[in-house]
Amino acid sequence: MYYNSLLTACLLFLLSVSCNPSGQDAAPFGKAEEQYKTYCASCHGEKMTAFTDRQWKHGNSDSALLASIRHGYPDAGMPGFDSVLTDSDKQNLVAYIQSGIANAGKYTFEDKPTTNLFQADSMKFRLDTVFSGKGDIPWSIAFLPGGDLLVTERGGQLYRLSSNRTTTAITGVPAVLAEGQGGLFDVAADPAFASNKTIYLSYAKGVKTDSGVVATTAVSRAILDGTTLKEVNEIFEAKPYWLTKHHYGGRLAFTKEGYLLISVGDRGKEFVTPQSLLQGAGKIHRIKTDGSIPADNPFVQQPGAVASVYSYGHRNPQGMAVHPQTGAIWENEHGPRGGDEINIADAGKNYGWPVITYGINYDGTVIAKSAEKEGMEQPVLYWLPSIGPSGLAFLSGDRYKGWKNVALVGSLRFRYLNVCHLSNNRVVREETVLKNIGRVRDVRVSPDGWVYVAVESPGYVFKLVPVQ
Ligand code: HEC
Repeated sequence: MYYNSLLTACLLFLLSVSCNPSGQDAAPFGKAEEQYKTYCASCHGEKMTAFTDRQWKHGNSDSALLASIRHGYPDAGMPGFDSVLTDSDKQNLVAYIQSGIANAGKYTFEDKPTTNLFQADSMKFRLDTVFSGKGDIPWSIAFLPGGDLLVTERGGQLYRLSSNRTTTAITGVPAVLAEGQGGLFDVAADPAFASNKTIYLSYAKGVKTDSGVVATTAVSRAILDGTTLKEVNEIFEAKPYWLTKHHYGGRLAFTKEGYLLISVGDRGKEFVTPQSLLQGAGKIHRIKTDGSIPADNPFVQQPGAVASVYSYGHRNPQGMAVHPQTGAIWENEHGPRGGDEINIADAGKNYGWPVITYGINYDGTVIAKSAEKEGMEQPVLYWLPSIGPSGLAFLSGDRYKGWKNVALVGSLRFRYLNVCHLSNNRVVREETVLKNIGRVRDVRVSPDGWVYVAVESPGYVFKLVPVQ
């Protein structure tokens, strides 16, 4: 009975739009979506990316879109579709593209912060300023047992914030290459910091050569004695070095077994690095804390492969965290334009960049013909338009009403905090808070369950404190 009536309901429903009992992926534009895939996607991207996220050259009013579709731009490489599509097909395509344009605005907000009070869907909270930067870009936050905080600034400074709120610059930080997107990146405390006082720093490292300064992502460990670093030793560097000064990755995280994970971006060499196991760039690496390689790393037996590689095909991972319950490694990375992703990085898996992507080139042409391929992993979530994700932290517990099982992600581009509500490793709902607060570079959850965010220009670290 139930199935019969459901079927009838679906059939009736089908007369207007396609049947979709789950309510997801509904295709309100039906035929226009199909025609877009057939006639337009090969050049403009499968998911209308080019239109969700672009500078318009020929205008985006209904009539301008119609003119583009009818006459094309033969000299620039777009055929006209006047004789291929009927008038109503063309009108429907215009409506479909307009829906994509509307989508582009979903992360831009009018609201500007006027007080330090903010409203989330099911609670209010205020911002407590725990750090006012000397420089512009606080990149990362780490928590020490006893309540002290460490904060890095990309310019090369590391600070210790004591629980009584005094901030002291730490001496002995290794030299970093603060140029382009480079500088001092992440700081992580050893899981056994209470007894070994050890911390880890990731940074851009430069070396002078005849052809200029070449650079890579490196990691050092050191003993933190009060506000002095001692016994600083480099334990990792991605090889080879490149002349480029961007896409360093640079996030650090610890696995449940106590191995250190390091994200390294593709260094702007997408057609060389991410798909090659001989290259250190475009990867998540897994090492022991002395720099040696765990025997069960996925490619240790493969001749020539970089033994520290854990997963590959990454573009520029700027957030990484180990899920506190499942132990899985989650990371987020920047797509080219559209196609920022959250992935669960599994041992030996290929995340597809640049063979598959939901993004497009900055000039509007497609990079990959497809967003899916056998043998390559799909993201947990992708963002269209790009939000420029940075930082990633899991929150459970009950300090924040309504944030029961969430992943928090900063947005550099749209200057807010994205709250991803999770269910069975899927993002089922997104909530936007701290609208227009500034470029959110990092977000962390302290061991006792408080949320901290690092915001740029001027640099601040805020603690989120729920209020009644
Ligand atoms: C063979 C590649 C190709 C195909 C197929 C194609 N386009 Fe284009 N399209 C282009 C190029 C290249 C441009 C940029 C033209 C320029 O720079 O002046 C463009 C421009 C446009 C613009 C104007 C964008 C702006 O910035 O103002 C629209 C709208 C558009 N295309 C829609 C479509 C639609 C809808 C389809 C499918 C019915 C389609 N195109 C099929 C290559 C293509």
